[in-house]
Amino acid sequence: MSKRLIVAIDGPAGSGKSTTAKLVAQRLGYLYIDTGAMYRAVTLEAIKKNVLNNIEEINHIANSVDIDLEYVEGKTKVFLNRIDVSEDIRTPEVNKFVSDVSKIQGVRTAMVKKQQILGNKNGGVVMEGRDIGTVVFPNADVKIFLTASIDQRAIRRAKEYGEKGIDISVQEVQKNLLERDKIDSTRAVSPLMKSSDAIEVDTSSVTIEEQVNTILRIVKEIAGKNEIEITV
Ligand code: DC
Repeated sequence: MSKRLIVAIDGPAGSGKSTTAKLVAQRLGYLYIDTGAMYRAVTLEAIKKNVLNNIEEINHIANSVDIDLEYVEGKTKVFLNRIDVSEDIRTPEVNKFVSDVSKIQGVRTAMVKKQQILGNKNGGVVMEGRDIGTVVFPNADVKIFLTASIDQRAIRRAKEYGEKGIDISVQEVQKNLLERDKIDSTRAVSPLMKSSDAIEVDTSSVTIEEQVNTILRIVKEIAGKNEIEITV
């Protein structure tokens, strides 16, 4: 099989990573991996077991849970120990605790290992998160850093909640996003930051189609330079 690319997409919550990464993967015929869903699954299990204040227990969960990601008709399905938790990992409660769980060293080591196995096994992946270009795949062929204004990010997330019937104000969403940004970017282990060789794409005032096309143009250019065949 000819060489396939590893495409890393990082950025803060609400920057459009998931939607964009999913569509880019679809257009390339690559596997899409949502690493945030993995941290969310560990957080959900810690909430269920009531061990949020016990680092050892959380580390144990990260190292022993079975997390599977499947993509069915454009939707991410997340299985935790074989149970579908796709909806349960996106509640405001999980949002509240996920950044604190994600900053635990043992949790990161366990998740990064799972992500590297998934990426290496498949070849041809679009992986999105906070530390993909810096830690998980520092040699990724394509590195994108997505940004958007805090106002836009909060409006997008509040709309997503509204569509799911969760009533939460834009102000409240904005507060949670800013708190998560702060914890994600200042944590000691692999903080959210732009890799020096990543290409920054600001999604504040472009459509999803435009941002997907921008990334595909970058992917094509890099593939061309490295004589890697892609079909878009
Ligand atoms: O992308 P998301 O909002 O679903 O991510 C949820 C949380 O998971 C985010 O606040 C920080 C953490 N995360 C991380 O630390 N590293 C990643 N690669 C992906 C997510």
